[in-house]
Amino acid sequence: MTSKRTLRSQAWFGRQDKMGFYYRSFLKNSGAPQDQFDGRPVIGICNTWSELSPCNAHFRTIAEHVRLGVLDAGGFPLEFPVSSLGEVTMRPTAMLFRNLASMDVEEGIRAHPLDGVVLLMGCDKTTPSLLMGAASADLPTIGVSGGPQLRGVYQGRAIGSGTNIISMSEQLRAGEITLEEFHEAESAMNRSSGRCMTMGTASSMASMVEALGVGLPGNAAIPAVDARRNNLARMAGRRIVAMVEEDLVLSKILTRSAFENAIRTLAAIGGSTNAVVHLLAIAGRVGVELTLDDFDCLGRDVHCLVDLMPSGRFLMEDFYYAGGLPAVLRTLGEKGLLAQPVCGGRSTSRPTAAFSGTTVLHDPDVTRGRAAPAFRDGIDVNVPVR
Ligand code: FES
Repeated sequence: MTSKRTLRSQAWFGRQDKMGFYYRSFLKNSGAPQDQFDGRPVIGICNTWSELSPCNAHFRTIAEHVRLGVLDAGGFPLEFPVSSLGEVTMRPTAMLFRNLASMDVEEGIRAHPLDGVVLLMGCDKTTPSLLMGAASADLPTIGVSGGPQLRGVYQGRAIGSGTNIISMSEQLRAGEITLEEFHEAESAMNRSSGRCMTMGTASSMASMVEALGVGLPGNAAIPAVDARRNNLARMAGRRIVAMVEEDLVLSKILTRSAFENAIRTLAAIGGSTNAVVHLLAIAGRVGVELTLDDFDCLGRDVHCLVDLMPSGRFLMEDFYYAGGLPAVLRTLGEKGLLAQPVCGGRSTSRPTAAFSGTTVLHDPDVTRGRAAPAFRDGIDVNVPVR
């Protein structure tokens, strides 16, 4: 579908000379027909798939669904790899490589004939590094998170990533469980594709993607292996083609208001303090002034509305069934705690209505209204209200 505008990619593919031959000819080795170079949006699918990042190991499937969505909408999808920062085995710490990975993403986007980008993000640092790099490149961009694992269940009780690793390793040391039971629990905890299923850094950042308006509603909590995760990926593929037509670059979405939404949402979900560091870095890439005081001022009067591990009892799969982040955003919107939101690049002047398209099964045990917060205010999270 030829764009109504002259797109960035035409500086490569629109040339009818020696270099135009060169650019088109090599891409035709994948079977791309001539019409793929006719001025339609070229969409980069920025993939952090890696077997060394087990939380992102299913991303080839997600990428295929994004690809279908781009084709549905008449775009030309081109998938490319970037550094994948897996928390599990990377030494000394994945955080050491976050900024390096963001440079990889930024220059990978800038150097190639892309008009829009879909970011595939999952394990902790893959989200901020991709958002930072894409923000600096500033093309139309949409984020797709890989989704959390199904809840861990061992001997009839929920066990969460990280949270129960610590408690069970201490039980083993104390002789309270056998080595065989310890190994059984390892299998029971990580029983499906996806990222950690507690509200740790990865789920907090996936929630930030949704709250910032960079991802579609549902991005944070749909489990990785739920068919609706693939559906969301396909919808994102369709949406990014429209965003190119609208010239909706990332800096138009990542406004001061978007970050205020994100900060309040972070307080409402009892999100990871690591998100503070990452949001400050992302804001810096688009020139939005954000300080630690903003987190204090904006988050102070927001109660924690969800009861998720590591601070609470439930897991991301439960959160999804309870309405997920749209339920939280709706509650914040109804209380006037959201600035003008943007959902997946669609702006609206009606904060609550923006989130009303998602069916919400509001489970009061997991996602609570402000009348019964899981914890009172965003500062003293150690005072449970139960
Ligand atoms: Fe990858 Fe937790 S180790 S999300």
